[in-house]
Amino acid sequence: LSDVDDGAQPRSTWRLIGTNAVERGERRITISHRFGTKEIRGTDQLCSLLHALCDDELDDGEIVAYAAATCDSEDSPPVGAVLANLWRAVEQLGDLVERSIYLGEELVTRITPISPRATTPIEAPMGPLILDRFSYLRVEESGNGVVLASPLALHRAILGRRMLAVAPEFASEGVDPVELSSELRIAAELLGGAGLLVPAGSQAHDARLATWAFHDVLFHGLSRPGRSDEPFGAHFAHGDIEPPPARVGRVGVRTALPAPDPVDVARRDPPIGAVLEARHSVRQWGESPPSVEQIGELLWRVQRAGDVVEIEGAPGYYGLARPYPTGGMTADLEIHLVISRCRGVEPGLYAYDGSTHELVREAELERADRLLEDARVAAGGQLDPPVLLVITSRFARISWKYERIAYALTLKHAGVLIQTLYLVATAMGLGVCALGSGDATASAEAFGLDWLVESSVGEMAVGVGPRLLEPRAAPPP
Ligand SMILES: Cc1cc2nc3c(=O)[nH]c(=O)nc-3n(C[C@H](O)[C@H](O)[C@H](O)COP(=O)(O)O)c2cc1C
Repeated sequence: LSDVDDGAQPRSTWRLIGTNAVERGERRITISHRFGTKEIRGTDQLCSLLHALCDDELDDGEIVAYAAATCDSEDSPPVGAVLANLWRAVEQLGDLVERSIYLGEELVTRITPISPRATTPIEAPMGPLILDRFSYLRVEESGNGVVLASPLALHRAILGRRMLAVAPEFASEGVDPVELSSELRIAAELLGGAGLLVPAGSQAHDARLATWAFHDVLFHGLSRPGRSDEPFGAHFAHGDIEPPPARVGRVGVRTALPAPDPVDVARRDPPIGAVLEARHSVRQWGESPPSVEQIGELLWRVQRAGDVVEIEGAPGYYGLARPYPTGGMTADLEIHLVISRCRGVEPGLYAYDGSTHELVREAELERADRLLEDARVAAGGQLDPPVLLVITSRFARISWKYERIAYALTLKHAGVLIQTLYLVATAMGLGVCALGSGDATASAEAFGLDWLVESSVGEMAVGVGPRLLEPRAAPPP
C-alpha cells in the first residue's frame, strides 16, 4: 500500500450515471435516465454542470472551477448560488449520483446507486461503524474489482485495496472513522451514508432482521424489481448457448403407462369444491400399494406434455403446455420416481416422460435407500412411501430466458405442481404428502443427473391412505 505519494490528498468525485439526456425547458430541466424521467428547477448554469457530470466524474475542486466558468457574463448568477442549486439537484438525483474517493490516482472506494429509491449519501452515522450483517464481497465479472453489497442497501460499492485491507476491522468490533487516515475516513463515512456500514450494535436487537437468513433476504431482494440495477426479466440473454429443448429425451428401458379415459375421469371426479375441502396431507400408508393404473393416471393428469409452442423473439426456444401453468411456458419441471411398492411396476428409479406417457428406467431401487429414508423421516411416518415423486427443475429452461427471477420462478412452479398433485390425488382417492427437505445432491446422484443442470426442488410421497372422498356416484342410466 505504500506506492502512493506520501503527500497525496484524498479526492472526492461526483458523477451522474445512467442518464440518457439532460434538457433545459422554459423553467425546468428534464433528465431522462435508466429508471425513468426527472424534472428539477434550474438555470442554464445548472444544466451545463449536470451535462458535465454526466460526461465525466468531477472532484470538488473541478466542480467549483466548472461552476465559475459557467458564470462568465455580467448577468450570470453568483458562483455560490449555482453551487447551492447543484447541491439541491444532487439531493434530488440520489438514484443517479455515483461517488468515488481516490488517493492520488488510486481508487479507495466508489459507491453506485442501484435502485430508484437510492438517496445521495450525505451524512454518515456518528461513532464506530460495522459492516451490515447481510453484506457480502464478490468479484465482478467485468473485472472492476471487489464489490461490497448488501440486500438491505440501495448502493453497491467497489472497495479498493486500501479499503479491503481494513475491511476485517469493520467485520468485528467496528471502527470509528475518525481513527482512520483521511482517505479511509471519507470512504468509511460514504459507505456509512450508503448503509453498507452501520452503527456498531444497531442491527443486533432489530427483531425485523433477526428472523432473516442471509441467503433468504438476498434472494428476496434480487429476485424482485426495485432493489438492484441488474437486468431483469425475459431477455433471452444466453443466445450463445444452445436453448434447452422443451421436451427432454431420456435414455433407458421404457414402460408404457396406462392412460385414463378423460370421459371416465370427468364422470367420476368429485366437484372441485369437495376436492378442495377434503384435501389433506396423508402420511400413513395402507397395506395395499397403489397400482400402475393409479400412478399412470396421476402422472397423465398432472405432468403429461401438451403442445410445443414457438416463442416470439427466441428462435429455437419452444414453450411447452402442461396441465398446470408455468411462467412463459417454460415447463422446467420434471418428475422422477422412486417406486418401492406399486402393483404392475418393477421397483426401481424412473423418469416420467410426459411426451410418450412412459416410465424410463434409471436405476435399481437400492440407489434410493437414502432418499426413501429421508422421505420417511420428513413425513414422520413408520413406512417408506410406496412411491416417492422427486420434482426436478431443468434450471436452464428458465434462466436461458429470464434474468434474475429464474430460481424464484422455478420454486413457484414447484408450488403449482405440488398443489395440482394434491388435488388430483385427492380426487382419485390417493394419499399424498408434499415433502420440503429432500437432498438435491443425493437425488441427482441416484437418478444420474448433474446437480447444476437438473436437480430436485421438491418431493411428494404417494400411496394409498385413508379415503378422503367418495367417488361421485355414477349418474342414473
Ligand atoms: C412445500 C411443502 C412442503 C412440505 N413439507 C412437508 C414435510 O417435509 N413433511 C411433512 O410431513 N409435511 C410436509 N408438508 C405438508 C404440510 O405439513 C401440510 O400441508 C400442513 O401441515 C397442512 O396440512 P394439510 O396438508 O393436511 O392441510 C409440506 C407441504 C408443502 C406445501
